[in-house]
Amino acid sequence: MTSRPPRARRTSTGGRVAPADERSAAPRTRWTGARTVQVLSTVAVGSLTVGLLLHDVPSSAPEPPQVAADAPADPSPRPRAVPTAGRTAPPTTPAPTVPTGPADRAGDLLAGPSAPSAPAPTAPLRVPLPPAAAGLDLARYATTDPASPWVVVNKALPLAPADFAPTDLVVVGGYEVRAALQDPLTRMLAAAAAEGVRLELRSGFRSAAYQQQVHADWASRVGPQRVDEVSARPGHSEHQTGLAVDVGSGSRPECDFQSCFDATPEGTWVAARAAEFGFVVRYTAGNQAVTGYAPEGWHLRYVGTDLVAEMQRRGVTTLEELFGVPGGPDYR
Ligand code: DAL
Ligand code: ZN
Repeated sequence: MTSRPPRARRTSTGGRVAPADERSAAPRTRWTGARTVQVLSTVAVGSLTVGLLLHDVPSSAPEPPQVAADAPADPSPRPRAVPTAGRTAPPTTPAPTVPTGPADRAGDLLAGPSAPSAPAPTAPLRVPLPPAAAGLDLARYATTDPASPWVVVNKALPLAPADFAPTDLVVVGGYEVRAALQDPLTRMLAAAAAEGVRLELRSGFRSAAYQQQVHADWASRVGPQRVDEVSARPGHSEHQTGLAVDVGSGSRPECDFQSCFDATPEGTWVAARAAEFGFVVRYTAGNQAVTGYAPEGWHLRYVGTDLVAEMQRRGVTTLEELFGVPGGPDYR
């Protein structure tokens, strides 16, 4: 693997972020009064140190689901993420708390319209709506509004507008996320830490422009045939909603963005516990035909505990199945 050239990256408001090699040595930049920026980590890949522009770009492509999850040959220790945000970041190691109390209903925390979902257009794959269950009104929030806590975005359902960016970003663990995630995400990280699990964030909100860079970088790594299995095109990524994060393993950082993440203490912990905090592991081997993406045990989508409970009640693992909206592996 060769070292990638540093590239500039734009903030969500259009500001420039220094190339990776500049930022790795520079003091933290604060952008007071402006939209914050995404952050950068440096990854040593094999014997080479590679300045990664793209947080969720692994040192090598994730393996297909059927391939055994062996640790990669190129361990990639990563320094802790450094926020370059324009607001004060909360403590990166918050005091442990027990995830109890009232359900962190996404709708209670997110401001925004709550129009019923519009019927989805024709799409490559339509999944059947499961039988209705007593309880949650699935029309409470729109699935088509990019600011909705229940927005569904995939290859068949782009964000509209395509350059959507949320307006209530905050920083948690060094990464921007929507304000609704601040409490549950902080509590989840604290709960893991309290149990000796070194769960860390690796990615949060990504602007459309940044997602374009992520996708292009992936394409250069895995090729045009595979890229759409592992990376969303701009306007199609949950990261652009600010409602998704990628988590990593502090105990086995070489497994970040690798299939071996699933077997790490952090991977097994999030698989078992993320739901308690309102997160779903969005892309699994079992639902790839519906989501259109290869398994990513590290990609967590926040939907709130009530929607997670509804998914469990109905026995579905995807938002597409829950809401009966299109998904699948193909772009329209
Ligand atoms: N890796 C996920 C699919 C994304 O790019 O949003
Ligand atoms: Zn992700």
